[in-house]
Amino acid sequence: MTTVLITGATAGIGAAFARRLAGDGHDLVLVARDEERLGRHATELHDRHGVEVEVLAADLSQDKGIEAVEERLRDRERPVHLLVNNAGFGNKGSYLEVSLADELKMLKVHCEAVLRLTSAAAEGMRERKRGAVINVASVAAFVPRGTYGASKSWVVQFTQGAARDLAGSGVRLMALCPGFVRTEFHQRAGMGTDNVPGWLWLDADKVVTAALRDLSQGKTLSVPDPRYKAMTGLMKLAPRRVVSRASSTTGRKYGPK
Ligand SMILES: NC(=O)c1ccc[n+]([C@@H]2O[C@H](COP(=O)([O-])OP(=O)(O)OC[C@H]3O[C@@H](n4cnc5c(N)ncnc54)[C@H](OP(=O)(O)O)[C@@H]3O)[C@@H](O)[C@H]2O)c1
Repeated sequence: MTTVLITGATAGIGAAFARRLAGDGHDLVLVARDEERLGRHATELHDRHGVEVEVLAADLSQDKGIEAVEERLRDRERPVHLLVNNAGFGNKGSYLEVSLADELKMLKVHCEAVLRLTSAAAEGMRERKRGAVINVASVAAFVPRGTYGASKSWVVQFTQGAARDLAGSGVRLMALCPGFVRTEFHQRAGMGTDNVPGWLWLDADKVVTAALRDLSQGKTLSVPDPRYKAMTGLMKLAPRRVVSRASSTTGRKYGPK
């Protein structure tokens, strides 16, 4: 029996990982801030799939929250075999419209928490010569898209660099870069998405299926869906100015403050 710890496990992509991995028979540790919602998800997954589901309420924008999850990941008596660093959010507004405090909060959740939790998990995995980490980034990592894109770019570079450093140790790391996925993300960030064409939207369950397939094939970077694979290829060829204009506006219409 293996155990998977998923951050941001109560909604969207994280909840899709939890459903799929519970269905595959893995025990779970679910992390998010809303304790009541965590409890409901845990009960549902346990009742439906018969797996053990722990909940860990933690705010990953706070040291205390990160420390609580680090402690769970370092518990040698209850090893975690797969860590999915998925918790994340968008801020409402473009650069200078967002407060510095909110920009720093994003870096804490998207970068510092990912670094600290990956490290806490990977040490034990390396000792056991077995384990994997999926760090959820975004296709925004490949284009200029405010602090969000910059933070996701860090996730990709960090993950692929660490994967290289740990090659041959039995520990696999993969950055997952989805495009637009129908979740609570855009509504929570107050982002209008009416200028995002319907064909660009992905389904969270399909994103997870593609991610787990890519992980099993030993990839260190997963871009689910052929449409986004083609687009990321084209982005490398198109003039930076054109890519920058399109990427910094699509799906970034903010409502009233
Ligand atoms: N949706 C997209 O189009 C898209 C595309 C590419 C990449 N992504 C990335 O995919 C990941 C998941 O996003 P999603 O679309 O599934 O978003 P979502 O539906 O809004 O879910 C976000 C999850 O993260 C948790 N969370 C948020 N802030 C947290 C914090 N400070 N501490 C702990 N947990 C926190 C939320 O639960 P609580 O509120 O209870 O904490 C929730 O479970 C993010 O990293 C996002 O950047 C999303």
